[in-house]
Amino acid sequence: HLISSTAMLQTARKNGYGITAFNVHTLEMLQAVVDAAEELQAPLILQTTVGTVKHLGPDYIVAAAATAAKRSTVPIALHLDHCTDYNLLIQCIREGYTSVMIDASMHPFEENVRRTQEVVKVAAAAGVNVEAELGKVGGVEDDIVVADEDALLADPDECVKFAELTGVPTLAPAIGTAHGIYKGEPNIAFGKLEQIFAKVDLPLVLHGGSGIPADQVKRCVALGMAKMNVATELRIAFSNAIKTIFDANPEENDPRKYMVPAKAAVKELAQAKMHLTGCVGRA
Ligand code: 13P
Ligand code: ZN
Ligand code: NA
Repeated sequence: HLISSTAMLQTARKNGYGITAFNVHTLEMLQAVVDAAEELQAPLILQTTVGTVKHLGPDYIVAAAATAAKRSTVPIALHLDHCTDYNLLIQCIREGYTSVMIDASMHPFEENVRRTQEVVKVAAAAGVNVEAELGKVGGVEDDIVVADEDALLADPDECVKFAELTGVPTLAPAIGTAHGIYKGEPNIAFGKLEQIFAKVDLPLVLHGGSGIPADQVKRCVALGMAKMNVATELRIAFSNAIKTIFDANPEENDPRKYMVPAKAAVKELAQAKMHLTGCVGRA
């Protein structure tokens, strides 16, 4: 069965590795990352954005993820990514999501606290993990668009206060990474992360995982980033594999002919990320 990600992430932080969390949009993408995790014996977080929940339906997603969990020997959690809508979040918990992100990072600190508290209360009663964001992660993720000049680093003292006030079990502090592929390299505020790591005894979450250079991912994980979200690179791997098939054979009309290589591409990318964050063999 699907499990809450809280304990999984606490163990990761304690032992200095990160769990990879993949945004999936189709059954094949879900199967590909599950295959990747099973083969490498890595604990896994499957996640979907609000847009994907609306596209596929939370019940379909939960059914597919629960089937994956039943077939697997590795622990699997199902997480709702960047949710701003309390009602949808509650619906996903009811359907069987085992982790939710309440993203109120666009609101002032007090309002972020209030909205997060509200979710922590219901989620705790349901045994569901909660993630919240402080600062603002730049870039585009689903309907959430943050311009570069509006991106905001998390403040270490606010992180301490936020953790105390909300009791949130996992925290995503914005440290300069962004959703999507970077023009050039991300400008990660390692000094800030170091302070947060020292002051906040919670598993931290690294957003904007696509495009971060390998050595910087490793540094982030060493500084308490116990979960790394990967969305864009996975979509690119999936889509490019399909494009290659259609380039060679524009008349192709058997979905299996392009889904099989697309799954292989997603699996390969997922495994590379698992090696990077060090969760291989941790199941
Ligand atoms: P990327 O699209 O940069 O991988 O970011 C993923 C993410 O943070 C999802 O919440
Ligand atoms: Zn994100
Ligand atoms: Na990114």
